[in-house]
Amino acid sequence: MRTQTFPTDNHMDLQHIRQELKKWYAENKRILPWREISDPYKIWISEIILQQTRVAQGYDYYLRFIEKFPDVQTLAAASEDEVLRCWQGLGYYSRARNLHHAAQQIISDFNGYFPKEYKHVRNLKGIGDYTAAAICSFAYNLPYPVLDGNVFRVLSRLFGIQTPIDTTEGKKEFAQMAQMLMDTEEPAIYNQAIMEFGALQCTPNNAQCVQCPLMETCVATRTNTVNKLPTKATKTKVSDRYFNYLFIRANGYTFLQKRGGNDIWKHLYEFPLIETDALLNSDTLLQHPDFKHYTKQLTKLELVDVSNEVIHVLSHQRIHTRFFSFICSDGEIKTCKKVALNNLERYAVSRLTEKYMEKFMQGCIRFDND
Ligand code: ADE
Repeated sequence: MRTQTFPTDNHMDLQHIRQELKKWYAENKRILPWREISDPYKIWISEIILQQTRVAQGYDYYLRFIEKFPDVQTLAAASEDEVLRCWQGLGYYSRARNLHHAAQQIISDFNGYFPKEYKHVRNLKGIGDYTAAAICSFAYNLPYPVLDGNVFRVLSRLFGIQTPIDTTEGKKEFAQMAQMLMDTEEPAIYNQAIMEFGALQCTPNNAQCVQCPLMETCVATRTNTVNKLPTKATKTKVSDRYFNYLFIRANGYTFLQKRGGNDIWKHLYEFPLIETDALLNSDTLLQHPDFKHYTKQLTKLELVDVSNEVIHVLSHQRIHTRFFSFICSDGEIKTCKKVALNNLERYAVSRLTEKYMEKFMQGCIRFDND
């Protein structure tokens, strides 16, 4: 069901749209550190950061990342822990693990030089169609159209495309449209222009239609469907999980373990965890077999604080959390590292754990023997 067919045969319309987008961009673009540069490494880093992160949040992370890892060589030579530590708080940590892996791929497969061909860029770990197109157009001025959330929105509204963007059919249709509208004369500027236009002008809510240079051309404006486009076929499902963390202190040390598996926060550190179907309380915790297992080599263990429930919301999961604080006189936990409390900031942890650590550092979590 579509309100209008594409103006595929109307070359003038498409050319007009390209010109207007580029003109709008020249007048309205933000000055950002990853713009007006052609270093593919820096463009790559910025695009990976900005994939699931807003510019306002990603800005400082980008500057810090580039300062710490200024080129492919430094990134490839770093440890994964160091890279994750630099990413701490940004979320979607597979992005950092993939960046690290891809940097090593560039060293081994391309002699340390960032590849120049689309197919080679696209083959690097963590680089999909969007990121490959962004790097190849921004760094090398190659005519690969970018198709991110902003561009989906601009295209669906401009041409009145109602096909859901999260279906195979929708992806194909939008990709064709993006290819058709692509400006082969100035790929870098055009791609940045359409993305920036989506980010600032043709926004998800309160789009600035009244001052829009494409108002006359826009199907959604004419048919009053701006707020209905783009469409999605499925709603994101959010599942609930229950994390019971053990913050156990022994003589200025605590215990941390590295998360494994194919799960959230893979390779980040955390306190010993007991995941359950409902949050535990102090009675049910002490009876739990995992608790007994973790603590069997600890002496004089004493529960000193139980936090309220903390709900940490991710894109697909709601993590219901409780932190149980203990002191003990000595001992080990086989699967954990014993870490000095004043070295905690060396470890990459989730924002959920970091917030709890911050509270502890600020003295908000009190212990009888402090
Ligand atoms: N979002 C994704 N890539 C971007 C870029 N290069 N500039 C601004 N926002 C972006």
